[in-house]
Amino acid sequence: MTDFDLTGRVALVTGGTSGIGRGIAHQFARAGATVAVCGNRNVEAGAQTAAELEALGVKAKFYQCDVRDPERVDAMIASVVQDFGGLHIAVNNAMQPAGASGIFDDRAVDGWKRSIDGFLSAPFWCCRAEARHMKDNGGGSIINIASIGGHRVGRLRATTGLVAYGTSKAALLFMTKALARDWSRYGIRVNSISPGLIETPATEVLTSKPESVEREVKQIPLGRVGAPEDIAGAALYLASDASSYTTGIDILVDGGALIG
Ligand SMILES: NC(=O)c1ccc[n+]([C@@H]2O[C@H](COP(=O)([O-])OP(=O)(O)OC[C@H]3O[C@@H](n4cnc5c(N)ncnc54)[C@H](OP(=O)(O)O)[C@@H]3O)[C@@H](O)[C@H]2O)c1
Repeated sequence: MTDFDLTGRVALVTGGTSGIGRGIAHQFARAGATVAVCGNRNVEAGAQTAAELEALGVKAKFYQCDVRDPERVDAMIASVVQDFGGLHIAVNNAMQPAGASGIFDDRAVDGWKRSIDGFLSAPFWCCRAEARHMKDNGGGSIINIASIGGHRVGRLRATTGLVAYGTSKAALLFMTKALARDWSRYGIRVNSISPGLIETPATEVLTSKPESVEREVKQIPLGRVGAPEDIAGAALYLASDASSYTTGIDILVDGGALIG
């Protein structure tokens, strides 16, 4: 299992203080990595996650940063590198839910801009800042968290937020491939993971209602809603030397929902 060992690596997980990101941060810590987690609004969850990671026997630290601000993203990456001596793995996972305004509402223009800022521009700022360090320091592995929503339209009503979300995730799949191709020259691998429905605080409104879960599970061949740990295995593979000949791919982790 040495190919999956992350001892001596420094990993950053944006949105690592909740849900999928927290699951990935725990997995990386169990594999021996030093783990930096970033969140924006909930500083307490950040401190708690860092303490949980340290309890697994690794170095860990919480960084409060709004990833929609490119200057703050640059500063966060500089701090991680200064605190831990490098950055080898970065997971761009943070997501702030957007409003659900209708497409024909007055609020739609503002809603669209805010959504694209959070869902699409933010991961670009992160990739850029992470690669700027990695390219001069022997490369690294960048993992973007996309979504099944970037692969298919789905059955929900087309609100501004929902269309912007799917459009952004589809664009993130393209961004991943474009950056992977270009940055291979620096030894930087760029891949993505597309989760299906995963039980996290972001999906609580759905997963806390048995009738909604029953309806969703009918569309999932493996017969259950996913857990953050289901995504963590794919993240460990892409972060580690086990995937050293893999770049520009997307791993769909959706219980078979796309073929359901
Ligand atoms: N859950 C699913 O079913 C599902 C399915 C497909 C794809 N995904 C993707 O998986 C990723 C994680 O989703 P999740 O369900 O785990 O969400 P979550 O539990 O709500 O966690 C979101 C994380 O992002 C952080 N965050 C939010 N806005 C931020 C900002 N502006 N700057 C920095 N950090 C910010 C949050 O920290 P604060 O609260 O402190 O701001 C939190 O740590 C997202 O990219 C999402 O699109 C999720």
